Amino acid sequence: MPSNVDKATSSVQPAVAKVKRIIPPQLVRGMRDILPPEWRWWNFIWQKVEAQARAYSFERLETPVVEKTNLFTRAIGATTDIVEKEMFSFVDQSDDHLSLRPEYTAGLARAYIEHGMLSLPQPVKLYALGPTFRHERPQSGRLRQFWQFDFEIMGEAAAVADSQLIILAAGLFESLQLPVNVQINSVGCPTCRAVYRQQLQDYYRTKRSVMCEECKKRLQRNPLRLLDCKEESCQELKANAPQMVDYLCEICKAHFVRLLEHLDEVELAYQLNPYLVRGLDYYTRTVFELWGQEGSRSALGGGGRYDNLISDLGGQPTPAVGFAAGLERIVSELKGREIEVPAPPAPDLFLASLGEAPRKKALRLFEELRRQGVRVTESFTKDGLKHQLEIANRLGVKFALVLGQKELMDGTIIVRDMENGIQEIVDLKKVVSEVQKRLAAHQSNITRATN
Ligand code: HAM
Repeated sequence: MPSNVDKATSSVQPAVAKVKRIIPPQLVRGMRDILPPEWRWWNFIWQKVEAQARAYSFERLETPVVEKTNLFTRAIGATTDIVEKEMFSFVDQSDDHLSLRPEYTAGLARAYIEHGMLSLPQPVKLYALGPTFRHERPQSGRLRQFWQFDFEIMGEAAAVADSQLIILAAGLFESLQLPVNVQINSVGCPTCRAVYRQQLQDYYRTKRSVMCEECKKRLQRNPLRLLDCKEESCQELKANAPQMVDYLCEICKAHFVRLLEHLDEVELAYQLNPYLVRGLDYYTRTVFELWGQEGSRSALGGGGRYDNLISDLGGQPTPAVGFAAGLERIVSELKGREIEVPAPPAPDLFLASLGEAPRKKALRLFEELRRQGVRVTESFTKDGLKHQLEIANRLGVKFALVLGQKELMDGTIIVRDMENGIQEIVDLKKVVSEVQKRLAAHQSNITRATN
């Protein structure tokens, strides 16, 4: 007679293991990985940024990715799109209101004040390069995390600083082999801008019926932004809108004229754009943007003067001017124009090894070759010689070294010329100098052939 336990177990059906489908984690919308093949474009830009910083005596200053939210509200402007709609803001465990930086200038101005940089010889020239964040509607050229490089000249009021920054920016794009269209305007100072604001409001008030909903709000809150609207009907209105240049006070006008004279002096081509206003409220006088291919919807870079920002944040009055550009937009411009960028240097030598003891020796030899500056690579986790030589072939190395049991016992190593397959046995102790000799001979053959 079956026991209770038997009865219980006999009624149990063989369990069908339920496979729980795990959804793999995905990228946050509007953000991107920068995969290994991408880095040649990034490094290319990075090198040109650093070369330009060195040439114009800028020093790097990196601020944290996270700052207090009110820094950006005060610096960029509470009624700008960036602050109103696009900040990644949160309250942390200590009840601090923080935001991921949507740009660099505010943080650099904070750092300038906080580190007492006013006591340094002026101007202070700073540059930075890193990720910035804006919760924009994802579309071509608009990401939610994008990288900026940023140049700032703090503590200089003269128009020559604006000119030099524009020259630096244009030169940087030239070194990237990207032709850019430089657009310039002046947004005046708070005094003359107030008069212009009024003129703009008066003009647009009569056009309310044809304005988009967003512009109706801008009319009251931030009328200068009316000039930036991309809606077709608003674009048409813009064509007859009053222009800031006609309202500049004498001092702002003189600054603008001087800037343009400097640019003419170095024969830098630019275009006056009377409707360029930019999306950040801290600008005074000069504003500019750099545009790539005709028809592109967004600028590669932009900047301007911000003489009141540092004092508005609680620092001493410190005139300043700066610009920033987005790396993703530059990368796609480089690709779009099929600009050749240098590839990372390929290895010259492959080190193959067969069996445990030779592998141990090869590990050490690899370090020695590397220390002597030989561009060597390996595949220590692969066993067969055929497989290893296939990898060497694929990598396009000039020579392969093969170390097996026999060679190890004889104190030798095989040097294989990967072009013609000719193999030579050399003394293991002399292999580094032998390899260097062969690589040098190979290089001089190439140089002779190309001359
Ligand atoms: P911005 O024009 O707002 O200026 O941004 C500079 C550059 O960052 C743009 O020209 C663009 O290349 C890139 N960028 C902006 N938003 C995005 C996005 N959503 N996706 C991809 N790239 C983007 C500033 O940020 C000012 N802080 C510049 C400045 C420095 N003014 C004075 N000093």
